[in-house]
Amino acid sequence: MPGLRAPSDYKEEPSRHPALVINSKEPFNAEPRRADLVSSYVTPVEFFYKRNHGPIPIVQDLHKYSVLFTGLKGSSKELFMKDIWKLPKYTVAATLQCAGNRRTAMSKTRKVKGVGWDVAAIGNAVWGGAKLADVLELVGIPKCSHVTSNGGKHVEFVSIDKCKEENGGPYKASIPLSQATNPEADVLLAYEMNGETLNRDHGYPLRVIVPGVIGARSVKWLDSINIIAEECQGFFMQRDYKMFPPSVDWDNIDWSTRRPQMDFPVQCAICSLDDKSVAKPGKITIKGYAVSGGGRGIERVDVSIDGGKTWVEAIKSQKAGNPYIPDGENSDKWSWVLFEAEGDIHGSTEIVAKAVDTAANVQPENVEVIWNLRGILNTSWHRVQVRMGHSNL
Ligand code: MTE
Repeated sequence: MPGLRAPSDYKEEPSRHPALVINSKEPFNAEPRRADLVSSYVTPVEFFYKRNHGPIPIVQDLHKYSVLFTGLKGSSKELFMKDIWKLPKYTVAATLQCAGNRRTAMSKTRKVKGVGWDVAAIGNAVWGGAKLADVLELVGIPKCSHVTSNGGKHVEFVSIDKCKEENGGPYKASIPLSQATNPEADVLLAYEMNGETLNRDHGYPLRVIVPGVIGARSVKWLDSINIIAEECQGFFMQRDYKMFPPSVDWDNIDWSTRRPQMDFPVQCAICSLDDKSVAKPGKITIKGYAVSGGGRGIERVDVSIDGGKTWVEAIKSQKAGNPYIPDGENSDKWSWVLFEAEGDIHGSTEIVAKAVDTAANVQPENVEVIWNLRGILNTSWHRVQVRMGHSNL
């Protein structure tokens, strides 16, 4: 009996919070309601979005569960949970964001292919586990390596779930060896989420967390790690999660012309309001999140209550006493900031938010200019239409 088993149907799915908005049932893809998302800085596990491509694997015997390492200088090696637990434990607060976050809004411009998401395919958690750099050192690969003695330049993570896109094979992805072996990149093999053992939906018993990078590279239910010369050739690296220009559609696409998307760009969204919001004339509170990828923090969030004619700077908040999050300017290195602004509205209007990261990157004003056929990375200014009437806020 293997330690971890991958069901071929959806009869053994875990239970989930009834307040989640389900975007696809099988495989299970769901996000919290906007207001639930920003009710706390650290997203509770039950409200953390769930993004799957197949049925959720099941641990049958944790003691028998192991990760196989191949592509090493000598023979392959196998590590069990007890080996991983022995390594120093790190906790890293990091925002995970699906590249498809805000896809539904992009598809309103022109049809895109993929599961629809509102603004909550994102969450901020405190991940606990071993640093991948330490794990790789344990199997013989020194810290801060760019290439191994037998030419390995990428680290491939392979799961055991059965995905339609892989013809029933497992989900897989890779990151460069230089990132995997760099302790500063904080890549984790995580076994805890918000201080609790990881649950099945989020990758129990062991998953990868690649901070600052689109969620697609943070492989869940890890089965093997391969040191390879070229990046992973799996579907989700080569024929998905790539950013194309608006001129490319299904009749002229050439997947090989683009690199797999890694870091995510600067993003923000308003969560206290949606297009069904009705307000009375007077004060309105605008709350949401802002985040950037690649270890860049958030410099500023601008909010407009008149469709982008005038702007005020929102107040940012972070951590709220969470002991896992370091003090000082780096606390938003991998984590989002929550923001809040107030305005006085007198009639129906468009409320807009846009963020600026520490490299002064800004969000595009309109979704049309970043439309892409797979509907990834909709980071356009976030706009919400608010009507006047009997307030439902
Ligand atoms: N890992 C496996 N094995 N299978 C998957 O379907 N989905 C990926 C990634 N890792 C996936 C996976 C994608 S696209 C995202 S956005 C994140 O997991 C979502 O992680 P979460 O469900 O814990 O929020």
